[in-house]
Amino acid sequence: MSQFDHLIPVMQRVLESEVILGPAVASAGVGGLDKNTYDIVYQHASELTAEVCGNKTFSISMHPGIEVTPPVVRSVLVEAISSTAAYLSHIRLGYLNIDESMVLVAHRLVRKVLLDCGRDDVVTLSLVVNTYDNCKLVHHYGRVLVSQFVSGELHRPWIQYALDLELAAHLLTETMKIVVEDGQQYVVLTDVGEHRYQQFAEFLRDSGFLRRRVDIARRSQFSQMADYDGIVQSVSTIEQARSQILHECGIRPGMRVLEVGCGTGEMTLSSGLYQLTGSEGHVMATDPSIGMLARAREKQKSFPEANVQFVEAAAEDLPFEDNSFDAVVGCAFLHFTDIPRVLKEIHRVSKPNAVFTTNYALQFANRSNSEFFLEWFAPVLTSRNSQDESNILPSETSVSNAIKPLPYEDVRIEAYEVIGSYQSPEMMVKFMVQVGNFFDDTMEELPWKAQQDMIRLLIGRGHDVLKKYGPERLVQSAPWQFLQARVAK
Ligand SMILES: C[S@@+](CC[C@H](N)C(=O)[O-])C[C@H]1O[C@@H](n2cnc3c(N)ncnc32)[C@H](O)[C@@H]1O
Repeated sequence: MSQFDHLIPVMQRVLESEVILGPAVASAGVGGLDKNTYDIVYQHASELTAEVCGNKTFSISMHPGIEVTPPVVRSVLVEAISSTAAYLSHIRLGYLNIDESMVLVAHRLVRKVLLDCGRDDVVTLSLVVNTYDNCKLVHHYGRVLVSQFVSGELHRPWIQYALDLELAAHLLTETMKIVVEDGQQYVVLTDVGEHRYQQFAEFLRDSGFLRRRVDIARRSQFSQMADYDGIVQSVSTIEQARSQILHECGIRPGMRVLEVGCGTGEMTLSSGLYQLTGSEGHVMATDPSIGMLARAREKQKSFPEANVQFVEAAAEDLPFEDNSFDAVVGCAFLHFTDIPRVLKEIHRVSKPNAVFTTNYALQFANRSNSEFFLEWFAPVLTSRNSQDESNILPSETSVSNAIKPLPYEDVRIEAYEVIGSYQSPEMMVKFMVQVGNFFDDTMEELPWKAQQDMIRLLIGRGHDVLKKYGPERLVQSAPWQFLQARVAK
């Protein structure tokens, strides 16, 4: 039992409210706020600070004896409002364009969370996130120039203010100290700081916060990936995987079908799902990424005969009545979701006896024994997550364990392989890191700048491997599973 366990339900309430605490703007793939928008955020944060603490300092149980001052609360609220506005922008627009109305909505959401969950807990959670991000920076580099820490250039390059207050707090709480080496001032972690970093990482993982941050980043990556179809086609045999689903799904003319995680609409349009349902039937194709849906709708113009509607929705939370669909399909989406919740939600919206057919990737990066792959991706492969359920991708037993207690019948889970072609380092690294999110747990441990450097390093290593092994040998299969199950009601 850790000192922070009681905060897990509070963090979960915060996450349910759509408020994002701490720095998340960069993880949403962004350059930051412009000066004018920042001033508006600052104004809102100042008003909220005055409302919740007046001019008074207060103490929190995380650091007994140390007073939290109004400027600290204001900077915490600046981050919360701007991160929440960035999140709303991605959800609503599919890209980052924070305007005044979004800041206003973010302000209201943050205010509501402060009142509902209590100022002290919300401030504590924000400080936990900031401390985690700052410690992650220093932990990764070992020592960081004071000037680089304060400017945030290595881990929060989008900020419009200096991190001197945060550094002062770390010095006061003895999580960090300053050392002078070669005439330069560096920030280093103390033993207390190292312990806090590990403790906070565990807390943020257990409370679902890190997962939410990864989800935001993924959503924005999918939205911004204009060349998704080209990347996926050039590196994998996903087209065959889509055809297999259509071949096995048993969809007949006249059926009302739901596609989940439809992406750019390849399965519904190009692979011909709409032809199976025919003019009497209908395909409701859903995806949470607005950017992917925009590409699907563009593609739809070349298929005027298709009776298809594209709707924004995450598979965990489908905007449809109970018993709405005769069949449900989805290609390569389940491994990005909360699988038990999605299986329940698909069950809810399906009619009795509807069949759900899908496929998904399994964990493989840390289990590969292909020489070129291990050499290429060594910097992001860890032994820690080789059998680890916290890995973003499911293990062989994840889906069968998730579906067992649920009212599905005739469950069929079969292993098969999807061939990956590694001849284009740029494409493959983009695919592995941004489409597949295969290394999320390793990437999450890196500060922002180190993530950018890692992507460049992996592309460079890919070119070295290409030279060494030659293009013909750069092929590897990845384990996938095919799932089909009948909804019992
Ligand atoms: C690898 S793409 C596959 C897209 C498409 N099915 C195809 O065959 O090309 C994964 C898709 O899952 C979507 N996705 C991510 N999280 C999701 C969620 N929670 N629910 C439904 N779809 C999700 C992404 O936006 C993306 O479009």
